[in-house]
Amino acid sequence: MDGASSTALMVCAYRARASTWPQPIMTDRWAAALAGEEGQRIAAGFDRHWPAMETWLALRVAYLDRLVALATDRLSVRQVVILGAGYDTRAARMPKSGVRYFEVDHPDTQAAKRARLAALPGYPVDAATYAPCDFEREDPVDRLRAAGLSTRLPTLVLWEGVVPYLTEAAVRATATTLARGLDPRSLLAFDFVGKNLAAGQKLSAQDHGMRDFIGDLAEPVRFGSDHITPLLAECGYRWVRTVSFDDLALQLLGDYQRERLFRFQRIALASPSVVDAPWP
Ligand SMILES: C[S@@+](CC[C@H](N)C(=O)[O-])C[C@H]1O[C@@H](n2cnc3c(N)ncnc32)[C@H](O)[C@@H]1O
Repeated sequence: MDGASSTALMVCAYRARASTWPQPIMTDRWAAALAGEEGQRIAAGFDRHWPAMETWLALRVAYLDRLVALATDRLSVRQVVILGAGYDTRAARMPKSGVRYFEVDHPDTQAAKRARLAALPGYPVDAATYAPCDFEREDPVDRLRAAGLSTRLPTLVLWEGVVPYLTEAAVRATATTLARGLDPRSLLAFDFVGKNLAAGQKLSAQDHGMRDFIGDLAEPVRFGSDHITPLLAECGYRWVRTVSFDDLALQLLGDYQRERLFRFQRIALASPSVVDAPWP
């Protein structure tokens, strides 16, 4: 990725829209101002290729918000790391005394975000510690340590909407350094897409349109997997769960709709040690 991420602005605009649902499953009061007209314009373009994107994004945010709430409210986790943070506002939305938020992102996106935050009246910019890092070239654990993260405390790491844009080598290197470098009680949570979508193979015209739209934003989809457990095992994880978006929709919205085409994406939870925490 060269330059600040446009997909980050796009998903921020979807968060803004989902926050206005009559019965929202997540709310982000900063998202509309952060996404601005540029984010809304990109999201409006993407709607044509995948109308269910807003619902999918709301489910992803709502689920990961639940992980943060569980970790910080009930499991005494005191460090939350947001990898590839984009315009994430959890540090402002979900503050808790004694909990530190670290945002790691590509230097160009992080600089663009900080410029937008500075122009946003009332946003608590100091709620997070910012650490620039290009996952294709650099070690995020080094960056986090330098920013003050303790590797002796359990940490919740969210890697939301990032893995599909990385090379497999960067996915493996990042996952491995997290497994080796952080406290083994830490949890990594990330979403990923299927292999065919990443490879551009055996796709419907609609899937091609979606993939091409993202590629035209200069952030091509590069990594996908149909079975993430072997990769995570090789990277040093001992406990893995995957969650489907269809299951999440059923749980949080109360229905299943095949035409949403949620069956090609999943969320993975992984820990270097066997955990007994009640992760949802
Ligand atoms: C779709 S956005 C998701 C942003 C945010 N996590 C969210 O869900 O709103 C993709 C994010 O991945 C980050 N990213 C892509 N390639 C990266 C790389 N090589 N190193 C670090 N971050 C990267 C972008 O900067 C951007 O913030």
